[in-house]
Amino acid sequence: MIREALARDLEAARIRTLTITDHDDVELHRQYDPLMSPLVWDLAHIGQQEELWLLRDGDPRKPGMLPGDIESLYDAFRHTRASRVQLPLLSPAEARSFCHEVRGRVLDRLEALPFDGSARSDEFVYAMVLSHEHQHNETMLQALSIRRGAALLERTVPLPPGRPGMAGSSVLVSEGPFVLGVAAVDEPFSLDNERPAHTLHLKSFRIGRVPVTNAEWSAFIADGGYLREEFWTEIGWAHRCAEDLTAPQFWNQGGTLTRFGRELEIVSDEPVQHVSFHEAQAYAAWAGARLPTEAEWEKACTWDPKAVARRRFPWGMDVPSSDRANLGGGALGPAPVGAYPASASAYGVEQMLGDVWEWTTSPLRPWPGFMPMIYQQYSEPFFDGDYRVLRGGSWAVAPSIMRPSFRNWDHPIRRQIFSGVRLAWDV
Ligand SMILES: [Fe+2]
Repeated sequence: MIREALARDLEAARIRTLTITDHDDVELHRQYDPLMSPLVWDLAHIGQQEELWLLRDGDPRKPGMLPGDIESLYDAFRHTRASRVQLPLLSPAEARSFCHEVRGRVLDRLEALPFDGSARSDEFVYAMVLSHEHQHNETMLQALSIRRGAALLERTVPLPPGRPGMAGSSVLVSEGPFVLGVAAVDEPFSLDNERPAHTLHLKSFRIGRVPVTNAEWSAFIADGGYLREEFWTEIGWAHRCAEDLTAPQFWNQGGTLTRFGRELEIVSDEPVQHVSFHEAQAYAAWAGARLPTEAEWEKACTWDPKAVARRRFPWGMDVPSSDRANLGGGALGPAPVGAYPASASAYGVEQMLGDVWEWTTSPLRPWPGFMPMIYQQYSEPFFDGDYRVLRGGSWAVAPSIMRPSFRNWDHPIRRQIFSGVRLAWDV
């Protein structure tokens, strides 16, 4: 059962990878921005990591399918994104053929594994590799959203309409304990930084029912939000001035934005996207609010105060579906606020999964009792860096890897990611 589900999810991830990279060789070798890799690097790196973790047990000293000097080109710690375009990378045809060959052997090995249905570490590594492929798919979508030129991608799924009266509303989350993080026994495919589950006590706070919208952000701009230092932290203001930021990334003069090569009207009730942590913080200060902490975010998302228990998803046990969350990448953007009444958490907070990653004030730190997983460099090297955590997942996240405990992180100046804002308030 788990084996079939993994094989099916791996297949779905691969179809998505091949769709996102279904462009000519010149396109795949282009570097759209120094922040992003050429797509052909991601393509072969997906296969290289799959081969390393699933065919060589994560041991790079074991002989692999690629010559060592070629394999090392796909070591993300050795080559910065900005430099990857200079490397003698595999061609798109070679990369596709390598990924295909690896996948065939992986599926053979998966079939031969003696699964007993329990949360075994073997299964975990397959799920980790699945997550890796989907995470790179989102990264490639970020690259394609920066790309200039005629549109390459089409929206493939319709989005439901929003509901009026949602923007700016908030709910109370009362003081008390809750369970932060997850246990391996409950979420066997959770990554190391999501574990272990532990009880935390939080003071009362309010949190936005929905993310901040483009209309709200436009009011911030119109009120001089980008020009008034009083709303910005010292470091945020220095960055705003150095980069001359005056609006979210991809916003144009005259009420339009550019998205995947198309100039579109800015939709007033759509969550704002492509803002940095510094901008999010300035917006919150202007609005008389603040950003939530990670713990507050996760409590509002998962805690059921009546049942005194954590829910698996905001709405309960059912896995995310298209009537509850905008996930999977087909929408090419967020849904309007109020589009998913069935997504409400026990506290009545909506659209916590999907649409936009939501900045929190929390730096990335391990939960107490953290134990690194087999891929030890996934979280640990980033614990002491200049990163802020984002929660909830964007429209580009695959539903099969979406968990409320999932933690994303990035530098506070980054905004090419599908990032937005949800406000919080002390009470
Ligand atoms: Fe990677």
